[in-house]
Amino acid sequence: MKNFTYSIPTVVHFGEGQIKKLGGEIAARASRVLVVYGGGSVKRNGVFDAAIAQLKSRGIQWAELPGVEPNPRVATVREGVRLCREEGLDGVLALGGGSVIDCAKGVAAGFYYEGDPWDFSAKKLTPERALPIFTVLTMAATGSEMDEIAVISNPETNEKESFSGPCCYPAVSILDPTYTYSVPASQTAAGTADIMSHTFENYFSPIETNYLADHLAEAILRSCIQYGPKAIQTPNDYEARANLMWNASWAINGFLKQGKPVAWSVHRMEHELSAFYDITHGVGLAILTPNWMRYVLNEKTEGRFARYGTAVWGLDASLPTRELAQAAIQKTREFFTSLELPSTLAELGIGPEYFEEMARKARTGSFDKTFVPLSAEDIVNIYQMSL
Ligand code: NZQ
Ligand code: ZN
Repeated sequence: MKNFTYSIPTVVHFGEGQIKKLGGEIAARASRVLVVYGGGSVKRNGVFDAAIAQLKSRGIQWAELPGVEPNPRVATVREGVRLCREEGLDGVLALGGGSVIDCAKGVAAGFYYEGDPWDFSAKKLTPERALPIFTVLTMAATGSEMDEIAVISNPETNEKESFSGPCCYPAVSILDPTYTYSVPASQTAAGTADIMSHTFENYFSPIETNYLADHLAEAILRSCIQYGPKAIQTPNDYEARANLMWNASWAINGFLKQGKPVAWSVHRMEHELSAFYDITHGVGLAILTPNWMRYVLNEKTEGRFARYGTAVWGLDASLPTRELAQAAIQKTREFFTSLELPSTLAELGIGPEYFEEMARKARTGSFDKTFVPLSAEDIVNIYQMSL
């Protein structure tokens, strides 16, 4: 195992009714917050009212940034920064899923930066300081509630880029599974695919020497397979929603990647799809993942896929390794289809027009260090297989 430092400063209050801790947690760190939310789901499911009641109970002032888009836009981040400065705010409260939380991170970091917040995404600099970030999570998917990453889109340039920095960890996150009861089936499915993809990105790494992380990854995958369909069938199933929610946080909070070299493949490819076509992140991942698996299957990698097949899908370990690996990939494909996620880009109306350009943009240096290193040509091939 390689050396590492593991530090997550986020305080997590998990479970039904934990919103009651929000007021006190904010009051300890801020007195005037920007309340950030999306297209209105938090107004319909009571999350907004519950959070505002907490602010009122502690005399915390607030301003609002509504309308954060799925695949949040840099223009909305800029607007949030403007509001924080104009209103003299000293904290940011996100009510929503990954898009809302990522936008809040952009605002919190942008507040202390005189330039354009897009500079973080453009990798011109790493944010070093941010307003305290508070989140009330309403959807199990991205893990943004417990990580330091934000992904922001710039539709004018067809770009979708992430930035990160320790200052972008939320200070406090409220994870109440009942707040996800209202997530529609399609988003629950996409979220499940996203959690699984984060786990795959960490699990399929060039060196496999982290016993604890590998077993946790397999447990997260099994848990998604068990509880994703349950949450879709019975949206108010507390156990299902609770397990999905905690899976989401642990798939990406850094634990799974410690001690081994990890570079992600499928996410980079998917972000280009979202950037060009504004599609749902988890849907893009569900389409690309089984094709990526098929593409990188070779003599060197088949053992890892075979282990995945036995540990996660309970496949017969006595089967020949290649057969096992192929069966595991097929299981993955069938699982996503069973959640009624699209399995081809054509279903989303996406053709091959921009594949070369997307592959060129996706292909950063980290693709030299991925599970199987990929060239721009390889990436085009995977897009083609996904058509
Ligand atoms: O806009 P609202 O009204 O909030 O509705 C949202 C949105 O339409 C809705 N929704 C969320 N919670 C709900 C609900 N509807 C009913 N009841 C609820 N309780 O679901 C829709 C999708 O929400 P969104 O926040 O966009 O979904 P998600 O959490 O999947 O976030 C996706 C974004 O996060 C980025 C993705 O690229 C994408 O931009 N990612 C962020 C990461 C991170 N910060 O670490 C890592 C990920 O890999 C990912 O890239
Ligand atoms: Zn993701």
